[in-house]
Amino acid sequence: MRLSGQDDAAIARAAQVLAEGGLVAFPTETVYGLGARADDDAAVAAIFALKGRPADHPLIVHVADPADAEAFVSGLGDAARRLIGAFWPGPLTIIVPRAAGMAEAAAGGQATVGLRCPSHPVAHALLAAARQRGVPGVAAPSANRFGRISPTRAQHVVDEFGEAVLVVDGGGCEVGIESSIVDCSGRAPALLRPGQIPRERLEAVLGQPLAAPAADSPRASGTLEAHYAPRAKLRLMPAAMLNTALQMLGDGALKLAVYSRTVSLPPGSQLTRRVMPDDPDRAAHELFATLRELDDQGPDLIWVEEPPADTAWDGVRDRLIRAAAA
Ligand code: TXA
Ligand code: MG
Repeated sequence: MRLSGQDDAAIARAAQVLAEGGLVAFPTETVYGLGARADDDAAVAAIFALKGRPADHPLIVHVADPADAEAFVSGLGDAARRLIGAFWPGPLTIIVPRAAGMAEAAAGGQATVGLRCPSHPVAHALLAAARQRGVPGVAAPSANRFGRISPTRAQHVVDEFGEAVLVVDGGGCEVGIESSIVDCSGRAPALLRPGQIPRERLEAVLGQPLAAPAADSPRASGTLEAHYAPRAKLRLMPAAMLNTALQMLGDGALKLAVYSRTVSLPPGSQLTRRVMPDDPDRAAHELFATLRELDDQGPDLIWVEEPPADTAWDGVRDRLIRAAAA
């Protein structure tokens, strides 16, 4: 069922469902999340069951305001404080040591917890209304089945789970790819997942370079090699290779969809092509919706032009590499 995120009564109703241990899908500035109260292990278990997600993959806990994060943390270090000050509310998740007994199931048994304070006004309204009803934080993974493309519109959530799931509709997500994740629980902060915030901005705020994730850092499903998978096989190719392949293909045998920035289709080609924007933020904004749209046309293959090498494209490139590995 769908509720409007613009409607105060609908927000109150969704907050009440969360308070009573139910699931609510809601918009954030990154992607839609599938939420349950973080302090209710049975409610959190229902998320894992609906997504088909392995129980040892921890969930991010979302809070209405930065101060609400403290209840979940056993100690905020300097790096976490700096990141919170600079980027919250916004598309950044921090991994910090977890307060004893808090959000056990959501954290997948880890000694740490992922925390995020989203900037989307509907997410904020819902989290604040839930807090009023005694909910300290909302655990929410992206609202897609395990391993599939994250949802950036309410309709995508319905496409994933059907009409049975309660969705608060907040329109399209601005950022379009999931939050950047910085692990602040070890000796040096490490980037576990690139998002919209460029690595250089994170490093400038931290005053030190980001480390590579430790070999023993917890398995993060968004960081599994294969993820974000369309049904069609996705291939990521440099522009020159894509161009040559398209010229050689001619008409016919393969049902192919093309997502490219600089490479156009050969004259007269009947193939479907979507144009990838030149701006990395716009490309991120459209990425998952475009992949879903191309996939829905039922091609055998989706050929995608590799994005440029600079760090502004790290988030988009990361998602495409994982989609291609599926
Ligand atoms: O933008 C986002 O982060 C979205 C919206 C809904 O907030 N959420 C999201 O959640 O992408 P999910 O579950 O699809 O991805 C969260 C990632 C997973 O890869 C998970 O393993 C990792 O965060 N994660 C969560 N808690 C962690 C922890 N304590 N240690 C290491 N990784 C953690
Ligand atoms: Mg996800």
